Amino acid sequence: MDAQLSTLQADALAAIAAAADETALDVARVKFLGQSGLLTALSKGMKDVPKEDKPRVGKLLNDARAAITAALDARKAVLQGATDAAAFAGVDVTLPGTPAGFAGRGSLHPITQLLDRTIAIFRRMGFALADGPDIETEWHCFDALNTPADHPARNEQDTFYLPDGRLLRTHTSTVQIRTMEKSSPPIRIIAPGAAYRRDEIDATHLAQFTQMEGLYVAEGVSVADLKGTLEFFFRELFGNDAKFRFRPHFFPFTEPSYEVDIKTSALGAADRWLEIAGCGMVDPNVFEAVNSKRGDRAFDPEKYTGFAFGFGLDRLAMIMSGTPDIRYFTNSDQRFLAQF
Ligand code: PHE
Repeated sequence: MDAQLSTLQADALAAIAAAADETALDVARVKFLGQSGLLTALSKGMKDVPKEDKPRVGKLLNDARAAITAALDARKAVLQGATDAAAFAGVDVTLPGTPAGFAGRGSLHPITQLLDRTIAIFRRMGFALADGPDIETEWHCFDALNTPADHPARNEQDTFYLPDGRLLRTHTSTVQIRTMEKSSPPIRIIAPGAAYRRDEIDATHLAQFTQMEGLYVAEGVSVADLKGTLEFFFRELFGNDAKFRFRPHFFPFTEPSYEVDIKTSALGAADRWLEIAGCGMVDPNVFEAVNSKRGDRAFDPEKYTGFAFGFGLDRLAMIMSGTPDIRYFTNSDQRFLAQF
């Protein structure tokens, strides 16, 4: 048994040393240590070893297994190192790397570009930037905007509610209220920002989109001011040949209210009306809601009037760029974005 064992161990170590690759090494492992391998077969002879010799022979068997296992591991490490070295042999690590951003220099997102132009135009008319939180109270989003809990407009503007009753604002009109809470007339602000609706997402709807709100409150503000301001703005954006239609509409927080339609060759719509904005004269109930929150009469509807408007920047950007699907604006596809 002793002699058989030392022959087997010598054979095994020789086979391992001779294994040229990992496959050959595995063959050797199975041949000597496998379940029906040579060492296992030899171990079965233990039952014929005289009792007094058993501990010594048992230890020899274990030592042989340990020696073969160690040789296998060592050889495997050597072979793996060789494989890795071969894989890297063709790589010149001194070559310069690939620059980040395969499409070259980046650019501003198309909606950001439109936003910047929009702000610049309103700035020239004296509008200041205002903002408010995306997570809003029901009061700022609905009640203060003359939209009580049972108002049907709440259905059309369904949104996402937080467990504590707050919600994701369904429009940026909340910033009208936030601004009037803090400052007194005259007020002339624009408020760009995200708005949220619980809409099914498709080619023309996203659950989050971008709106631009406007509010002008002072003495003697009229519908003529509203029309003049919006027409000036859209002509700056689309060119002087643009034609407008203020179509009577309904919003709870403005009275009268309009939707603005535009005809312009710049949008490939020289003879077709495109709806681009909602607007109207601030409803006296909105002023009164703000007054009661403030505890004063800063927005006395007998003294002040105002106009408000809102439009979707995503929709405008879609029309301007001929983009057929609003989802292109959010899925970060380089091939789409590189065109702007
Ligand atoms: N908040 C309205 C909307 O989301 C747009 C609007 C703003 C209408 C201001 C009138 C005045 O559709």
